[in-house]
Amino acid sequence: MKIFDLKSQYKEFGHIIDKKILKILSSGNYILGDNVREFEHLCKNYLNTKYTVSCNSGTDALVLSLRALGIKSGDEVITTPFTYFATAEAISLVGANPVFADINPHTFNINPKKIVKLISKKTKAVLSVNLFGQAAELDQINKICKNYSLKHIEDCAQSFGALFKNKQTGTYGDMGCFSFFPTKNLGCFGDGGLISVKSKKLYKLILKLRTHGGIKRNQHDLIGYNSRLDEIQAAILNVKINYVNSFIKKRKRIAEIYNKEIKNDRLILPFTHKHAQHSYNQFTIRVKNRKKLETYLNKRCIPFGIYYSKPIYSYNAYKSNGYKPLPMVEKISKQCLSIPIYPELPIKQAKNICKILNNYEG
Ligand SMILES: Cc1ncc(COP(=O)(O)O)c(C=O)c1O
Repeated sequence: MKIFDLKSQYKEFGHIIDKKILKILSSGNYILGDNVREFEHLCKNYLNTKYTVSCNSGTDALVLSLRALGIKSGDEVITTPFTYFATAEAISLVGANPVFADINPHTFNINPKKIVKLISKKTKAVLSVNLFGQAAELDQINKICKNYSLKHIEDCAQSFGALFKNKQTGTYGDMGCFSFFPTKNLGCFGDGGLISVKSKKLYKLILKLRTHGGIKRNQHDLIGYNSRLDEIQAAILNVKINYVNSFIKKRKRIAEIYNKEIKNDRLILPFTHKHAQHSYNQFTIRVKNRKKLETYLNKRCIPFGIYYSKPIYSYNAYKSNGYKPLPMVEKISKQCLSIPIYPELPIKQAKNICKILNNYEG
């Protein structure tokens, strides 16, 4: 058993994908071609959003969005310290400073109540994260942003297909940034990303930023990036996007089994907000003595992941910035442990994991 099984989707769709890749290889058209345009169009329809721009990765999607909003050196962006490093890294990459708000220990997402106190004259945006496939409290964050004239960017790297109040994540904020890293709910066989955006002006700006500051040959209006999605990754995503709802359904089925069958007072199961429809990129439980549970699972060959073992401000890269520890994220990062969840995980194995967890005595 593995924490995720990246080969299984190739086994399932490889015969279709191989043909598409061979066609691209012989076409001579490898970058920003028909497959990329098709993918952007499919995502626009899937997300029910106004504009979509594909790019090289989820990290680039964040950087391009921050740049498009004019966020720069000296500015502050409020975000969560309990996420993958790239969320804060993107803020730093445009020269701005991440300001960390503590999390809600039940949903693991940024606590909207902690945001307002952190707003200063330098604050330009809130970068929320829909962690593990569950939307943050996007309506409340939007409200705060509106009241304080801030922009709201959603980091949707882990939440493709997740809903909040029946609307896709990535369509609440001014921009939604997606990753198609292979482990995501919709993953390619390399790196890929996409931005969902509401404003035509920002859309046009992101198109330029994505390709060295201009969309035409010999046009460079801005200092931009090389952040193009390639035709091969787009073709793979065009096949897989047709199945993303069934992938999420299978993840939800496994989560349902875990939620129903894990009965152990030592373990806290994930909490789903009443307005969120979780897409379970991760199934993350909590336990007081994690080291003991790790040893127990290792002995029984049950794979697990620790997402995330430290708040972002504790990494060496941010250590010298003088961030003060935040109580909830300190506690949760010591207790969290993610168990296997992916569409192809056999139900029998999921049930076996429940049994093993139920026998855990701490
Ligand atoms: C929450 C979050 N943000 C950003 C990223 C960065 O995405 P990518 O790896 O595609 O650059 C990830 C990737 O794991 C992520 O989980």
